[in-house]
Formats: sequence, structure tokens, C-alpha cells
Amino acid sequence: MHLTNPQLNDHGELIHLLSLDGLSREIIHDILDRAVPFTAMAECAVKKLPLLRGKSIFNLFFENSTRTRTTFEIAAKRLSADVINLNINTSSAAKGETLLDTVDNLAAMQADMFVVRHASSGAPYLIAQHLATTGRNHIHVVNAGDGSHSHPTQGLLDMYTIRHYKRDFTQLTVALVGDILHSRVARSQLHALVTLGVPEIRLVGPKTLLPAAAARMIEKGPLRVCHDITEGLKGADVVMTLRLQNERMQGALLPSPQEYFKSYGLTPEKLALAKPDAIVMHPGPMNRGIEIDSAVADGKQAVILPQVTFGIAVRMAVMSMLAGGGQ
Ligand code: NCD
Repeated sequence: MHLTNPQLNDHGELIHLLSLDGLSREIIHDILDRAVPFTAMAECAVKKLPLLRGKSIFNLFFENSTRTRTTFEIAAKRLSADVINLNINTSSAAKGETLLDTVDNLAAMQADMFVVRHASSGAPYLIAQHLATTGRNHIHVVNAGDGSHSHPTQGLLDMYTIRHYKRDFTQLTVALVGDILHSRVARSQLHALVTLGVPEIRLVGPKTLLPAAAARMIEKGPLRVCHDITEGLKGADVVMTLRLQNERMQGALLPSPQEYFKSYGLTPEKLALAKPDAIVMHPGPMNRGIEIDSAVADGKQAVILPQVTFGIAVRMAVMSMLAGGGQ
């Protein structure tokens, strides 16, 4: 069976969250709207709702994670789901079991949802496709980051953060600074920013860290490539910094981390080029002194820790939308 948009069922409803590519503005706003009351719930003494009571959610993280895995777990627990964290290093995947055999075995344990992070781009799609072709579309798949392809819940929590501080997407200048080439976060952010109508999006970094496809993307959308940081940050409302993803780089793409910091590291002096009320975001993990100076990371314009907190509410919104019976 060939799946054109495996995320949607015949009625156009979201059944998996694999990518923000192809999701409408309405669906994105619907998820962000659903997250608002969940954010308020964080202030309550009892942080529990019964929306996913009796559901089993399996966290399958084949790659390292701190924020994403933990906030998915907290989100599922706040919705009263049973959460099973598979320790991949001690699971049978380490004995050579294939990904789909692992999935079949967990499905046989009455799984309701898989939250998947994998170093290979497309792994969550493969799982969703396998479930569809074997008639098990009632098991939902959420992509928690696949290779350098996509990280949809990160993109959504970043949009939630922007909307929280800046309200109207259609008035903004957003600068993405750093290793865009290897960043699944940047890809998800770009799809969302374009869909939500941001009129100016700047991709800021050295030629070696910008995708060759950037030029093609520019023709389509409100994108601009800036190799010069001054031009890239001038008048920006939102500055999103990205980690140098050395583990995904093949060959030397930069002279040295020190040189990179000099040209593109976000210092208070460089940030002063943006609007005075600009917000600074970072998906984490941060490398202080490489892509961001501590004075900025800990400064009053940084919203890096609120991003993490909002991530819980946004993941609750996604999981309840998929498996909560439309509540
Ligand atoms: C990112 C990731 O793993 O894609 N972090 C995250 O999920 N918050 C970004 C990165 O690794 O740099």
C-alpha cells in the first residue's frame, strides 16, 4: 500500500505526527490552542488529567536525548497514560533484532502509541507505514527526531513559544542562526514558520552549514540567506540559535569552533543588532562559547528554559489529539 500523507486519515484527521511538512495552518493552530490550558495546569497542585487513562505509550529512543524524552514522559504521565521507556542499549535491538520486529513485539503488548527517536531519517515513517499495511493504524506514531530530517514536536513548541511572546506571526522577522544543514529542528521550524505566515525568515550561517536547497527554498517562500551575521540579525524579533552538530558532519566544514564563535556566536554585542525586545531561543543542548555566549544564554532576552516547559504542554496537546478521543 502506498501512503501519500501517512499522518492523516481519510477524514483529514491527524493519526500520526511525523513531520510538519504538509500540516495545515489550522491543524498547527489547533495543536497550539490545545496546549494553552495544559500550560496553565502546570500551576495546579494536582497535575493530572484522565485523557489517556488506560493507554500504553512506548518511548523508543534509539538516540540520545535529555529534554525530549523526559518531557514526553512527563506529558504522558500528566495525561494518566502508562509510560514504558524502552532502554535500547539493554533491549534486543542490541542483539540484532530489526526495528520492525521490535515494533511488532511491542504492538503485541497492546501498545497505543510509539514515540520514536532514531538516527536514520524516515524511521518513524517506516513504522507508521508498517502499522498501516498490517491493519494496525489505531497505534499512533510520534516522531521525536529522525536523523537530520524532522523534529515536529520541537518545531511546534518553538511556535508555541513565539506565539506566547510575540502573538502575531504575520508581523515577524525570524533569524535562524547556525548549523541549519544538519538540523532537523531547523527543518521543522521552517515548515511551521512558512505555514504560519511569517513574512521574513533569515537563514544565517557560513555557506558550508546552509543546505544547497536553501536557494530553491528562497524562490518558494519568504526566506533569505545571510552569510553576514550583522545583516542576519538586524531588526530581528526572534533569534533561534542552533548547535553545531559535529556528530552529523562529514569532513571539516569549519576552520575551528573559536573561529565560528567569532563570526556567528551569539554575544550581547551581536544581539544588540536585533530589536531591543527580541527573544533568543535554543532547542538545546547548548554549547556555550561556541554558538552562544553565556551572557546571552542566561540573559533576560533568553526564553530557552520556557521553551522546555512549554514542550510538556505541547506534547500533551499532540498526544491527547492523537489518542484522547478528540477531547
Ligand atoms: C535537538 C535534537 O535532538 O534534534 N535537541 C532537542 O531535541 N531539543 C537539537 C540538537 O541535537 O542540537
